[in-house]
Amino acid sequence: MTVIYQSDCNRLTVYENPGNGAVESVAEEIRQGLCEEQKRVPCKYFYDAAGSKLFERICNLPEYYQTRMEMELLNEHGPEIMDGFSHGDIVELGSGANWKIRKLVTSIDHRRRAGLRYVPVDISHSALIEASSDMLEMYPDMNIMGIVTDFTRNLDRLERERPKLILFLGGTIGNLDENEAQEFLECVAGSMRDDDRFLLGADMIKPAKILEAAYNDSAGVTGLFNKNILTVINRELDADFDHSLFVHRAFYDPRLERVEMHLEACEDMEVEIAGAGIEVAIMSGETIRTEICRKFSRVSLERMVRSAGLRVDRWYTNDDRWFSLTELVKR
Ligand code: AVJ
Repeated sequence: MTVIYQSDCNRLTVYENPGNGAVESVAEEIRQGLCEEQKRVPCKYFYDAAGSKLFERICNLPEYYQTRMEMELLNEHGPEIMDGFSHGDIVELGSGANWKIRKLVTSIDHRRRAGLRYVPVDISHSALIEASSDMLEMYPDMNIMGIVTDFTRNLDRLERERPKLILFLGGTIGNLDENEAQEFLECVAGSMRDDDRFLLGADMIKPAKILEAAYNDSAGVTGLFNKNILTVINRELDADFDHSLFVHRAFYDPRLERVEMHLEACEDMEVEIAGAGIEVAIMSGETIRTEICRKFSRVSLERMVRSAGLRVDRWYTNDDRWFSLTELVKR
């Protein structure tokens, strides 16, 4: 890992995982996805600086209940979650703008905070540095070690020497399909000591109308967020996707228990992706799938974590059970 940023006060160091972001692997990943029968692009490419900002706007939309509900749960149960954790690393996977960790850190007194180190892990270096710099100012007694990487692949970097509280919030686990989630959770479990804890936020199954509204907001922000992935590919791989030829689609599939986001082509086209050395033909009405967002029941969630070697220690949810926070430990 190489250091890409160091604050003047030396309390913040940001590393980048060298394996990540290599041009060949981006090209290869995009090429593979666009050659599938159902064309797709990994959703991590949403999150450049502009995409991270658009996602922050999504979190504040009236239809997008997830962030608000999770914040409520953290507010209510923060002290309980942090209880007994006074020394070690708080590792946040997909930290983004990290409002949530602030809720938790604020719920403990500053003497205990001095023994903690915050370890945000995110794919967007701009979001990570910005959010961490704000944290430095807010908590003068905390040290921060940021890691810019694709955490679904590069988790082996987590230290085992210090006690850990791992946070994976926002329902991002839903972006991983069954196999990816299995592999990821096993990897997290593998990095945990017996006394470590893992707090997992997950969005729950609910009526399709509510789910679909959350991904088809009336202000159109989710559509902009979705199309931003084309901007990222155009820039990263010197491609010539034309935004105006695509429309945003998001729907709930009750059989697969997931929302899918797609970009649907409005006419036949040929897109050149120079950086991947390919030209892709897309037909009118054909879609590129940009994201899956799986929704869980308590039963499906327990089954998933159990097969990865984890067990539910505590479980928090709202009255209507729209969102859940699960505290996991090793089995
Ligand atoms: C950040 C993955 C939790 O799946 O709801 C929001 C991303 N996509 N609107 C989600 C997202 C469209 C979000 N996660």
